[in-house]
Amino acid sequence: MTSTETATAHASGNAATDKFKSERVSADTSPERAAAIYQDVLKAFADVIHKHEVTYDEYRVLKQWVIDVGEYGEWPLWLDVFVEHEIEDVNYSRNALTGTKGSIEGPYYVANSPKLPSTCTMPMTDKDRQATPLVFSGQVVDLDGNGLAGATVELWHADEDGFYSQFAPNLPEWNLRGTIVCDDEGRYEITTLQPAPYQIPHDGPTGWFIESYGGHPWRPAHLHLMVKAPGKRTITTQLYFAGGQWVENDVATATKPELILDPKAGDDGKNHVTYNFTLDPEA
Ligand code: BEZ
Ligand code: FE
Repeated sequence: MTSTETATAHASGNAATDKFKSERVSADTSPERAAAIYQDVLKAFADVIHKHEVTYDEYRVLKQWVIDVGEYGEWPLWLDVFVEHEIEDVNYSRNALTGTKGSIEGPYYVANSPKLPSTCTMPMTDKDRQATPLVFSGQVVDLDGNGLAGATVELWHADEDGFYSQFAPNLPEWNLRGTIVCDDEGRYEITTLQPAPYQIPHDGPTGWFIESYGGHPWRPAHLHLMVKAPGKRTITTQLYFAGGQWVENDVATATKPELILDPKAGDDGKNHVTYNFTLDPEA
């Protein structure tokens, strides 16, 4: 997916944009609903412009920045950092869900990762093997706690340097990505590495934006997951680590208390943790 040689915002941004453009994008929004949303967006813009008495020079700077975000391919990055958590939140509430909480997908999901058995080790490099191993086990269950046959857990995460395969150069295509096929009771035991906090790419227009309001580009260490089972609503979520840096101050505002793991160091030199996913019925 990346043809570039360096892990710059420009390169990973363009890879994320190419990936997004290759997916099917549509919504069954009625023209009336679309019109109402667009009018409210314009009203929100008007309110901000009037409140702050925005000048023509400021307007031109905005125009240039919008052009830059597009040219760097950073719209998936910027939107997933600053907007997606609100979309995720409103969709959990509007559907009155009670299963495991979701969190943002972010720009680095890639569908169709290689299938792995219910007890497995994630594909990783020799360098990744130097990091502390994390043994992550659990079960996919329904709202009554019954294990779900046919469940899958898609897992993807960054390496210790904060790089996602297919969005940074020189990593195997499916490094730290896999679709775990759970056993007949929805159980899994996945060995991966303990991820580290990481900075979103910030040498481009998303980084300039963060700098301009005095923010930071850090996300806490996290695992990304997409959990599916027949007849159940798919959950896209993330899991974080108790006491981890940036858990309380995530640039993407995507952490939730229900999504925090507290692994314990085992005698085998590995960290161990259990987490179960509860799936709501399909709508
Ligand atoms: C991430 O979780 O990897 C991510 C989320 C939003 C923007 C960029 C990265
Ligand atoms: Fe991530």
